[in-house]
Amino acid sequence: MTKQTKKSIKVLCLGKLPQAQLDLLRSATNPAFDLEIIDRSGPLPSDQLARALASKDAVLTEPQDRINAETLALAPNLRFVGQRAVGFDNLDIQHFNDSTPHKILATNTPGVLDNATADLAFALLIAVARRVVEADTYVKTGQWSGFENDLLLGTEISSKTIGIIGLGRIGLAMARRAHGFGMRIIYMRSSSGRGNDDFAADQKDLMLKDELGAERVKLDRLLQESDFISLHCPYTPKTDKLLSTREFDLIKSSCILVNTARGRVIDEKAMVEALAAGKIHGLGLDVMEREPEVPQAFIDAPNVVLAPHIGSATHETRNAMAALAVRGMMEAFAGIMPQNAINAEIWAEWISQQEKLH
Ligand code: DGY
Repeated sequence: MTKQTKKSIKVLCLGKLPQAQLDLLRSATNPAFDLEIIDRSGPLPSDQLARALASKDAVLTEPQDRINAETLALAPNLRFVGQRAVGFDNLDIQHFNDSTPHKILATNTPGVLDNATADLAFALLIAVARRVVEADTYVKTGQWSGFENDLLLGTEISSKTIGIIGLGRIGLAMARRAHGFGMRIIYMRSSSGRGNDDFAADQKDLMLKDELGAERVKLDRLLQESDFISLHCPYTPKTDKLLSTREFDLIKSSCILVNTARGRVIDEKAMVEALAAGKIHGLGLDVMEREPEVPQAFIDAPNVVLAPHIGSATHETRNAMAALAVRGMMEAFAGIMPQNAINAEIWAEWISQQEKLH
């Protein structure tokens, strides 16, 4: 019997793909992938995204691409979403699982961006504490006239307490960096809301205590005791505006807050107010509530260091993220469940639908 050749898979890639992944996709045969790339900066308007998805079988996304009932309205064939990010709050997984006529399998890229993201979080922490951006501007604008004893004094890091919100892979990488800097570490768990194993979590607490002397605490204690706070939790309905006015009232006014997670984990209005009222010493922010909008108060404040959502932006990490997303897509369409499936619970049904489609 001759082996049946599968129909080619129509893929939309939102944003650039490294050459190695382009080559891989273009040379694949069973199935072949028919690739369209839309290289956009900034989110596509919903109607434009919906039109771009029409007739596609698969899409490779990034955090700014909202894939939900509205943007899928014209895309009855779409059945795979490969998110090039670990966070996937832009994907309506519930809708993917319930969607008709067939389900949509989604993957993300956990594990390959922990060090890059923790590096940026620590860079922001140091930049705010040691006023690196102010110092750079000071020198470049010709204000430097010589050594001064009290010039641009900052905050010591070593021996201070860091509170880490969300001790997943990235939070752990951050904790290891903090330990290296001689900091005391406290943390709170946050969950993705997609199943928890309490036993594994307890084991992890023991490991963290043993390896890093880290202590798990409740949110309020973390806010009250921390000299630095770094956010590493996913955005979920549970972490929506996790830090708001009440929480800013608990934070030490000498505290520096770093966010490389998602903007919506913090109530941005409350953060602007806390900054104006001197309830917080400084901010290092890589993410915003409504990207790419940035409150003017942050732009004007010397004690706020900003970055444009570049936590994972190293050559090595972005290549690894693209490779993982493309591999997951190729595996899925070859009938192998990708290890990084977000909604692995639909796999059996998804794969039986694929068999009917080919
Ligand atoms: C993520 O992975 O969720 C980042 O925000 C983008 O790399």
